[in-house]
Amino acid sequence: MALISLRQLLDHAAQEGYGVPAFNVNNLEQTRAIMEAADQTNSPVIMQASAGARKYAGAPFLRAMMEAAMNEFPHIPVVVHQDHGMSPAVCQRSIQLGFSSVMMDGSLGTDGKTPMDYDYNVQVTRQVVDMAHACGVSVEGELGCLGSLETGEAGEEDGSGAAGKLTHDQMLTDPEEAADFVKATDVDALAIACGTSHGAYKFTRPPTGDILDIERIKAIHARIPSTHLVMHGSSSVPQEWLQVINEFGGEIPETYGVPVEQIQEGIRHGVRKVNIDTDLRLASTGAVRRFLAQNPSEFDPRKFLAVTMVAMKDICIERFEAFGTAGNADKMSALSLDAMTGRYSSGELTQTVK
Ligand code: G3H
Ligand code: 13P
Ligand code: ZN
Repeated sequence: MALISLRQLLDHAAQEGYGVPAFNVNNLEQTRAIMEAADQTNSPVIMQASAGARKYAGAPFLRAMMEAAMNEFPHIPVVVHQDHGMSPAVCQRSIQLGFSSVMMDGSLGTDGKTPMDYDYNVQVTRQVVDMAHACGVSVEGELGCLGSLETGEAGEEDGSGAAGKLTHDQMLTDPEEAADFVKATDVDALAIACGTSHGAYKFTRPPTGDILDIERIKAIHARIPSTHLVMHGSSSVPQEWLQVINEFGGEIPETYGVPVEQIQEGIRHGVRKVNIDTDLRLASTGAVRRFLAQNPSEFDPRKFLAVTMVAMKDICIERFEAFGTAGNADKMSALSLDAMTGRYSSGELTQTVK
């Protein structure tokens, strides 16, 4: 079983110049689709579980499912990451369950909705870093709130997201503040805000630089070149799956996601972790709708769940290839979390920020 830390994987990605999709998992079908795609493309994996996933499947079930995946595919290095931890207590529980990485999202309060000030964010994130690094576990922090630069809405339709209107300043991470934050917290990876948001309704038109600010990523990377950057809300919202959903009874209005080419530009400028959930949801829903419409007398759930796996696996393969993740699984030798604890305590992994 090749459980590795996020830090080890992202250090490798930075060294080799690739990015890693971080897919959300809630069930067997998503887990298997991701692992089969990774196996086929020789890619290392980040599987992440949100608070919503824990509520749906239960944390021990999720953890056991990820463990089963690692046992079946022992040659694939896997990061088991907790997505959007809203308090140090939530992160502590995930560490206890055996996650190798946690996100402390101190940009919002414990309700996952209220934007919090910088000092609060530093304080809770630092607390999690001290606790996690002692266990060899990595920490992702977040500075800036995800939200639409078109509307000022955070769009909390899907999981975590600020409520109400946000200002442009809140929705674009400041490079100087990012440098300060990384120095103060010693996080392993930093989620930044650049105009992306969670869910399917990111942009009302194909995004241009005024609403998807890749230049901001470049400015942050120029200021903190050795920090691994994370893009949340990075689903591309495939138009072909929207068409399938709508053709077979769905009602999803015109909407656009983050084009893969823009993510690739981010990867050229320090983005190492790319969070994707919605794309697998859309593919899965489209596949179920089409299958059931075309096979109205079918009632065996395994039949329509099997087609969702194929649809999700195809997206995973496309992203592993597009982000340069493919071909890297067998280039890494897994370090245990114990070994990572030693590397943290020796000061080897401390962030250097001028
Ligand atoms: O953070 C957002 C992810 O898409 C997770 O969504 O909380 O509905 O599982 P969820
Ligand atoms: P999407 O909704 O764009 O897939 O983003 C997922 C995400 O950021 C999870 O943390
Ligand atoms: Zn997110």
